[in-house]
Amino acid sequence: MKFICLTLLLVSGITDSRSEEFEVVGPADPVFAVAGEDVILPCFIKPNISVVDMRVEWFRLDQKDSVHLYEDHEDRDTEQIQSYRGRTKLIHQELQRGNTSLKLSTVRVSDEGRYKCFIQSKSWSDDATVDVRVEAVGRPPVITVDGFDRSGGLHLQCESEGWYPEPDLEWLDSEGVSLSSETTETHRNTDRFSVKHTITVYDSNDKIHCRVKLRHHMLETLINTTNNMFISWRTSVILISVFVVLIVIAGILIVVFSHKHRAHDQLQKAHDQLHDGKSRIQHGEYFSIFQQ
Ligand SMILES: *[C@@H]1O[C@H](CO)[C@@H](O)[C@H](O)[C@H]1NC(C)=O
Ligand SMILES: *[C@@H]1O[C@H](CO)[C@@H](O)[C@H](O)[C@H]1NC(C)=O
Repeated sequence: MKFICLTLLLVSGITDSRSEEFEVVGPADPVFAVAGEDVILPCFIKPNISVVDMRVEWFRLDQKDSVHLYEDHEDRDTEQIQSYRGRTKLIHQELQRGNTSLKLSTVRVSDEGRYKCFIQSKSWSDDATVDVRVEAVGRPPVITVDGFDRSGGLHLQCESEGWYPEPDLEWLDSEGVSLSSETTETHRNTDRFSVKHTITVYDSNDKIHCRVKLRHHMLETLINTTNNMFISWRTSVILISVFVVLIVIAGILIVVFSHKHRAHDQLQKAHDQLHDGKSRIQHGEYFSIFQQ
């Protein structure tokens, strides 16, 4: 009898702790967030039981303080990382359904990282990892005509800034064929990347696209390298040459004129001196007459 009682107690004990057993499930794939927007970091408890009476903590694998803490039926922000203040939310209604997904608002590039969703009951705990990747979409690319070379090529430059992580920049012709860039530059300021690529095109009447791509985002700008553009470059080259020739001619004229002017001045001076001498002589004559 004693034995049966003990077994019953043991079995009930096991089933009791079994009923407290749960699994925490996160997304298998990384969660992509866009800087400035809101994102949900999914996390669930399995089986589908309420976690209202449990402790739910979201934290980053690389930091000690918590991103969000729910304990004793309320949210506590005393040990929250400063940069997450006011940006995290657990929906309490969802907690009843075993949904401990975290809502993170106005995502920052610095939010990128690995998070843990940790759920603890009185007798059991488990966690799941959520990998968050942040993307910041930069400004649309700007194409500028950067010169013209003797062999008839048009130098183009394409620039785009404000991206995270580093985007890919690609030149394409009107058929969508990728053209290789001549020079490529990447700059990083704080947490954003800017890219600048150059190319020389020889074909007039073509549409050249500059495309900046990042995982799920793409921005593109188009330039029409019309005959006009080549002609206008040729015209401006001719105009500049004409201008330079005119300046040289003007320079020569000025030099010649000032020379002439100086010669005239010297002549005038000589003439004045001569006149001066004459009047002095006249004075002398007068003086000598007077002495006599
Ligand atoms: C979880 O439980 C709620 C009711 O408590 C139910 O509405 C919902 O469909 C359940 N979800 C799953 C995945 O079983
Ligand atoms: C879980 O909760 C989040 C809000 O925190 C909600 O967006 C999401 O749809 C919920 N998931 C399910 C399966 O109900």
